[in-house]
Amino acid sequence: MENIKQYVQENKERFIKELIELLKMPSVSADSAYAQDVINTAEAVKTSLEKAGCDVVEMCETPGYPIVYGHKMIDPSLPTVLVYGHYDVQPADPIELWDSPPFEPVIKTTEIHPEGAIFARGACDDKGQMYMHVKAFEYMIANNNLPCNVKFMIEGEEEVGSKSLGWFVERNQEKLSCDVILISDTGMISNTQPSITTGLRGLSYVEVEVTGPNRDLHSGLYGGAVANPINVLTKMIASLHDENNHITIPGFYDGVEELSLEERAEMAKRPYSEDDYKKALNIADTYGEAGYTTNERNSIRPTLDVNGIWGGYTGEGAKTVIASKAFAKISMRLVPNQEWENITELFKKHFESIAPSAVTVKVTPHHGGQGYVTPIDSIGYQAASKAYSEAFGKTPIPVRSGGSIPIVALFEKELKSKTIMMGFGLDSDAIHSPNEHYGIFNYMKGIETIPLFYKYFTELHKNQ
Ligand code: BES
Ligand code: MN
Ligand code: MN
Repeated sequence: MENIKQYVQENKERFIKELIELLKMPSVSADSAYAQDVINTAEAVKTSLEKAGCDVVEMCETPGYPIVYGHKMIDPSLPTVLVYGHYDVQPADPIELWDSPPFEPVIKTTEIHPEGAIFARGACDDKGQMYMHVKAFEYMIANNNLPCNVKFMIEGEEEVGSKSLGWFVERNQEKLSCDVILISDTGMISNTQPSITTGLRGLSYVEVEVTGPNRDLHSGLYGGAVANPINVLTKMIASLHDENNHITIPGFYDGVEELSLEERAEMAKRPYSEDDYKKALNIADTYGEAGYTTNERNSIRPTLDVNGIWGGYTGEGAKTVIASKAFAKISMRLVPNQEWENITELFKKHFESIAPSAVTVKVTPHHGGQGYVTPIDSIGYQAASKAYSEAFGKTPIPVRSGGSIPIVALFEKELKSKTIMMGFGLDSDAIHSPNEHYGIFNYMKGIETIPLFYKYFTELHKNQ
């Protein structure tokens, strides 16, 4: 692999240019106004896999957006790596908070990215990280050193729950059979301290609707005499946490995996500064469940957060009104042994039970998924660890992430393969936020690290 560094350097400008073209395509899966752009993006991904050297590339139709599948099978006796990524992106809103338009990528330097970063929606999550795999593959083909078989499965509905991918995986176990699944859709600690994501949280996402009177009312004539759905909803939501910030839904913590003090002490060894964390977010203090540190609260503990809340008059000036309805979107991040369907059911039951009789409540589940923990004694983890060590000159630390990729647990169930999460993004890259960006250093380092994973995984697989 001596020449990977050289190949990356020589092709740097082109790699950046190609990614920028991909980032110009607004593949927002949540908003049907972008449906054609999402499909165009799938086409562009397909073309990129063909050009990089796949034998077979298919646009696999699903009930939703297509899945781009491609492979290069060189020898059935060699192991197969299945690369998963997503070409869809989050909505860009609130658009007015972007310093440059979200689908007009620009390169700017930042304190953390002195070599520059590409600013655009999807730069890090996940087009930039997904495309590293296409370019790493291109390198291995061009230099005739692909050590094993490779399959690509790039979907377009990750940001809206991967419904079609679940459908696709259940129907294509044979086609997707592999020895390991490789994903770059997570982060690492910093550019000088790489880490490998060993855990993802599960998710249960619900929407609630509280209805009071059958129409909006004059708040003077009726105020005080009827339940105000917004007052009631906010009170109900507030009651979901107690004074220690524990979640009050009965049964919510049943079976939650408690880490031993040794494991928690091990976790606490990672480099971390609470002061820097607060500074980066401009907050005077962190906040969360009593008895746990910040890094525990956002990784090994389950949480409940309101993601949106609305109702009543929000226009200019004042309007004295009691709204008929109030709404909220609520997500719960889950940890191993919490079944997401069960949690959704517990939430629904509890939320309905705490509603006063003066209102009616409707709970609508959106989507969810199981958490995931990958073992660090697998050859996949060891190969990833060796790859990072070589590329960064530093041993990576295993870290459990707070984010979710619900489909990973399903991969394990349906394909019986472990997933290795080689993320190269940073928390400060602002994924899902305005001004999302991805460091040029990270993009290039990723392309350099991935072929090393292939090499070490193939070697370790042979010696197994
Ligand atoms: N790539 C993220 C998940 C992620 C980011 C995991 C950073 C770990 C570290 C993914 O695209 C994502 O945003 N997932 C959603 C879940 C999905 C069902 C909408 C999430 O975590 O909110
Ligand atoms: Mn992602
Ligand atoms: Mn995302």
